[in-house]
Amino acid sequence: MGSSFFTGVKEALPDPIFQLMTAFKEDPRVDKVNLGVGLYQDESLQTPILKSVKAAEKYLLAHETTKEYLPISGDPGYVEGIEKLLFGKKEKHVCGLQAPGGTGSLRIGAEFLHETVGKDVLVPDPTWPNHVAVFKQCGYQIHRYPYYKNHRLYMEGILDALRKAPKRSVVVLHACCHNPTGADPSDAQWKEIEKVLVEKELFPFFDFAYQGLGRGIEEDAAVIRSLASQSIEFMVACSQSKNFGLYSERVGALFVHTASGKVVLSHLKRLARASYSNPPRHGAAIAAQILANAELHTMWRREVDAMRSRIMGLRTALVTALQEKQKGHDFSFLLPRVGMFCFLGLKEAQVEKLRKDHGIYMAAEGRINLAGLTLQNVPKVATSICSVLREIS
Ligand code: LMR
Repeated sequence: MGSSFFTGVKEALPDPIFQLMTAFKEDPRVDKVNLGVGLYQDESLQTPILKSVKAAEKYLLAHETTKEYLPISGDPGYVEGIEKLLFGKKEKHVCGLQAPGGTGSLRIGAEFLHETVGKDVLVPDPTWPNHVAVFKQCGYQIHRYPYYKNHRLYMEGILDALRKAPKRSVVVLHACCHNPTGADPSDAQWKEIEKVLVEKELFPFFDFAYQGLGRGIEEDAAVIRSLASQSIEFMVACSQSKNFGLYSERVGALFVHTASGKVVLSHLKRLARASYSNPPRHGAAIAAQILANAELHTMWRREVDAMRSRIMGLRTALVTALQEKQKGHDFSFLLPRVGMFCFLGLKEAQVEKLRKDHGIYMAAEGRINLAGLTLQNVPKVATSICSVLREIS
């Protein structure tokens, strides 16, 4: 081919989380350990299709009659089921639509808020790297609020940054299971944050990707329900990737708590139409079927509880093993963490060494996905972490 229109375009950097996933797959070592991407894995290190999902799919296979387009706002049964899951009931002042996964939901919400509320966004430092990418792509000025310090949630830093934020800024908050630290505000701390958000006229935008994997399905929604009960306007982007294990089906939804629901929804639909037109049917139909059928619903809740228990057990096992191997080093700060992730606070060189010398993969900032552990590999992981901590200080 001759000269290119793209001459001078620099290659984009690969996504760090997906790049890690590829590198792990290509690593030939048999005892390699994947603590990278946020995928639930069972004790045999499989990411299984939930039994409730299989049962719903069986039902759909027998009963579904069309693959016709869904409405732009998605499957109404799915949207209603998820609204009840998030808010605990059908809320008077909530409008919502299905979107392709948590990321698709975040993107539609971010685009709308950029058009209407403001051009500044505050994201926690640290946060899921894709938050920055999504909001940057929508044209926001990105600000970071300090979130975690000395192995703790940094409440003073959070409140101080919110107090100083430009009025009408969008504030990204992780509703539960903060990614990457696993440090969530307590209910009392959420109240303090809520107060500042309202006083300073900031717009809360919750990313809610891990409902059920933190403290429990209902408990994890506490902050969402608290704001809804106070007539505060906010948005929430949720994902059914983790709690229904529907990762590749791209199932998510965006809800807005507002008195202007009809107008807001009309614009969210406009933005969706200009982006992906209408959302995919299959995954949403599965979640809708599970939530609507009492037997499947109970089965699904048990499966979520089992995932959460396994993660909690692994956190304790890892901390115990680390304390045994590295006497005098206190890892107990990891115990109160919630959800799949915790943050070891390792240096990049230590993370690199763990990957190169020990075949242990984790995100660059030292985030680990506990679900990549098993009772078998915990001793190896703990020994490797401790040896790297000794070698590189
Ligand atoms: C993660 O943080 O590992 C997950 O949310 C997967 C992703 O899309 O990045």
